[in-house]
Amino acid sequence: MMLLFAAAITIPLGLDLYLPAPDDNPLTASRIELGRRLYFDRRLSRDGSVSCASCHDKTHAFSDGRQVAVGVFGRTGKRNSPVLINRGYGRLFFWDGRVATLEEQVLKPIEDPNEMDLPIAEAAVRVSLAPGEISRALASFVRSILSGDSAFDRYINGDRTALTPEQQVGLQLFRGKANCTACHVGPNFTDESLHNTGVAWHDGHFSDAGAGQGNFKTPTLREIARTAPYVHDGSLATLEEVIRYYDRGGNQSPGLDAEIRPLRLTSVEKRALIAFLRSLNGTSLEPGE
Ligand code: HEC
Ligand code: HEC
Repeated sequence: MMLLFAAAITIPLGLDLYLPAPDDNPLTASRIELGRRLYFDRRLSRDGSVSCASCHDKTHAFSDGRQVAVGVFGRTGKRNSPVLINRGYGRLFFWDGRVATLEEQVLKPIEDPNEMDLPIAEAAVRVSLAPGEISRALASFVRSILSGDSAFDRYINGDRTALTPEQQVGLQLFRGKANCTACHVGPNFTDESLHNTGVAWHDGHFSDAGAGQGNFKTPTLREIARTAPYVHDGSLATLEEVIRYYDRGGNQSPGLDAEIRPLRLTSVEKRALIAFLRSLNGTSLEPGE
């Protein structure tokens, strides 16, 4: 069902990947533009107070800097707003991966009572577009949100000075002793799969079951230094806290992924790993409002 897309917009990201889109929604400049307008359109929320950009804001690499999302009437959900970087390459959407396509995904926040709280039929009337067109346009715009050409990409593409010596040590750790590439793998640093890393395990139960048994989707690590706080519930405030969490082998929960175990990193190694993660900030191609 996936078409390789290689026209209309170029992707100078050093990713060397074609941007896939479904057969019935090929990327076109006009659909991306319509999607951009809808993305910033507050009429898609019940009281006209919230747009997609309220929770997925360019200055936070299309997340929002909050622990959990805040929607219409100040309602809060229980999950952190994820980054929308390079989601055109995604195969699972939402932290629990419950949706398989962006076309299906982008309508969910409009109807979610804690987010925009508007029936799709009413949204369609307000913006004078059929629901299918809203879906295709928003999905196209989200596909156009890309990040690449980071210091890491320049290093991989042959510029040996693009990473500092400390960051190069961090990259070795990321692939080796720290075992991060067991899950954060490939050009987008995600295997697009579900894992129980123990984050949701508190006081003898899962505070959020995710996809079941505390399983959540591996998120991308591109732009990671701009997107605190971290993980599905925003409970890890800084990259330092994330590394401390992995270093101690996570929360000992039933079904903990076999790749999560105590790492015994030294403080120098922890700093190098964080320095490497900071090299994943890239050039964002979506110019924003
Ligand atoms: C009130 C805040 C809020 C608003 C408004 C909002 N989102 Fe989200 N978005 C979230 C949260 C929170 C999640 C994760 C929810 C979950 O996993 O259950 C999410 C998930 C997503 C994802 C899945 C990303 C991934 O990698 O799995 C996409 C795509 C997305 N939103 C696009 C949009 C679009 C398009 C709009 C506007 C129509 C929008 N969002 C409006 C908070 C918001
Ligand atoms: C077993 C698979 C696995 C391994 C190994 C792993 N991760 Fe993760 N990572 C995940 C999953 C799944 C999540 C989401 C967890 C959640 O939200 O509850 C995550 C979340 C993160 C986040 C938060 C991202 C965000 O957008 O909030 C960071 C940062 C991160 N991992 C870095 C690392 C680093 C660094 C390592 C190596 C020390 C590592 N991970 C090892 C699967 C893994």
